[in-house]
Amino acid sequence: MQPLAQSVALLLLCPLAAALPGARGGRGRFWHLTDLHWDPGYEAAAAAGRPCPSGSARSGPAGPWGSYLCDAPWALLRSAARAMRDILPAPDFVLWTGDDTPHVPNEQLGEEKVLNIIANLTSLIKETFPGTKVYAAMGNHDFHPKNQFPGKEHRIYNQTAELWRPWLSDASLPLFRAGAFYSEKLPSPGTRGRMVVLNTNLYYDQNDETAAEEDPGGQFQWLEETLTNASRADEMVYLVGHVPPGFFEKKRGKAWFRRGFNERYLGIVQRHHRVIAAQFFGHHHTDSFRMFYSDTGSPINVMFLAPGVTPWKTTLPGVNNGANNPGIRVIDYDPDTLQDMVTYYLNLTRANTMASPGEAEFPAWEAEYSLTGAFQVPDGSARSMQTVLERISGDPHYLQSYYEFNSARYDLALCKQECRVDHLCAIREVDFTKYDECVKTSSAASAASGVWLLVFCVFLGLLSPQ
Ligand SMILES: *[C@@H]1O[C@H](CO)[C@@H](O)[C@H](O)[C@H]1NC(C)=O
Ligand SMILES: *[C@@H]1O[C@H](CO)[C@@H](O)[C@H](O)[C@H]1NC(C)=O
Ligand SMILES: *[C@@H]1O[C@H](CO)[C@@H](O)[C@H](O)[C@H]1NC(C)=O
Ligand SMILES: *[C@@H]1O[C@H](CO)[C@@H](O)[C@H](O)[C@H]1NC(C)=O
Ligand SMILES: [Zn+2]
Ligand SMILES: [Zn+2]
Repeated sequence: MQPLAQSVALLLLCPLAAALPGARGGRGRFWHLTDLHWDPGYEAAAAAGRPCPSGSARSGPAGPWGSYLCDAPWALLRSAARAMRDILPAPDFVLWTGDDTPHVPNEQLGEEKVLNIIANLTSLIKETFPGTKVYAAMGNHDFHPKNQFPGKEHRIYNQTAELWRPWLSDASLPLFRAGAFYSEKLPSPGTRGRMVVLNTNLYYDQNDETAAEEDPGGQFQWLEETLTNASRADEMVYLVGHVPPGFFEKKRGKAWFRRGFNERYLGIVQRHHRVIAAQFFGHHHTDSFRMFYSDTGSPINVMFLAPGVTPWKTTLPGVNNGANNPGIRVIDYDPDTLQDMVTYYLNLTRANTMASPGEAEFPAWEAEYSLTGAFQVPDGSARSMQTVLERISGDPHYLQSYYEFNSARYDLALCKQECRVDHLCAIREVDFTKYDECVKTSSAASAASGVWLLVFCVFLGLLSPQ
């Protein structure tokens, strides 16, 4: 069974793996993984025939590798770790953008439990990539009570800093303790890259701790300074965090940041975009991207949202069928440009038809798509991603591909008019006001085209002989 599964995996991965260049000429590769959301109670519940703790009483099939209604069982996380080691065992570094705990009420967690979960996942990643630099960001679920991150020192920041100490530089440690954000030069020799890891949970509208503050933790000021310094040092920066600015593409009008924080973030990207090579975030559990424009409308930056490892179907009201297949991704970069991105996914339905997780058996994670191959662009620069956006917007074939990637091929339904508006406006407009305008004009345009279609049909009906 195992050799078969492995050769199937290799067969599927080979063409893309061969297309990825090695780390020569300042080019390299790194992993981005996000939203692991371990549900430690999954196995016991499944064995007892009860719904998983993270399923909020929704019950459905609970397979050995996970369930679309639940957060990740340990077997799924081990399988993701194994897939990463098989596909790219020696990345330049790993980006890990948070959300480790299950979607259960605060009463079922607590500071110690949250820290223990972070500790288990930290060990898993350390064992998978021993000696590899990991840039870890906290997710809104990596705190107790959830989302309530303060803009000042906290015991949870201290404890998390201890867990991540082997990954943090001496200069990052005190910064992390004070607000869970930091910046470091990339390890790869000869590159001029810098990683800036943000704690954007401070800007989340569910965070009551920072609601009345103008610059929680002084993070905005620190970020401006860091970017100004990077520009002087001729560096290129990756901006990394968990909760992204802008809108959720699966629910119309759903933003995460408070308005003022969203504006400030956008302003910083506009002023400093020349030193920002790209932005990498999580939280959505879906695969999407966000465009940033200058005042005159030129594409100046792009944010990539990586799919989650948890398949958990969101309970956010108004989201239709919001689960996903587990996803992970490799980014192929050079100091200035994101060259390509390959996303891998696990078909959870298929995995669950396999035998129970044994010590040696793992289901095959498949290469889902490469950015440049699927969208016919030379790289992942802002200009190329503008081309991707135009393709998605102008060609139903590209829209549908994008839509299937959005849930790592869980939802293969047709992305029709409303879906199209939700996704395109979320990708195009991170700004609150502009997003609203986009939704209004796009909906009006489609309503108008609907009316014209009706008129046209009536007209045809009048012409056609009965
Ligand atoms: C999580 O960590 C604890 C403490 O080190 C350990 O006892 C436990 O086995 C770990 N759980 C898993 C699933 O690795
Ligand atoms: C965090 O750790 C620092 C340094 O060890 C210590 O001075 C501080 O009191 C700790 N803060 C909290 C809230 O635990
Ligand atoms: C920016 O550079 C100045 C001068 O070297 C330094 O004092 C300051 O701490 C730096 N700021 C940040 C946020 O790194
Ligand atoms: C996932 O696997 C199931 C069961 O084998 C299959 O029906 C489905 O088409 C697969 N999905 C994709 C996207 O390949
Ligand atoms: Zn999450
Ligand atoms: Zn989150």
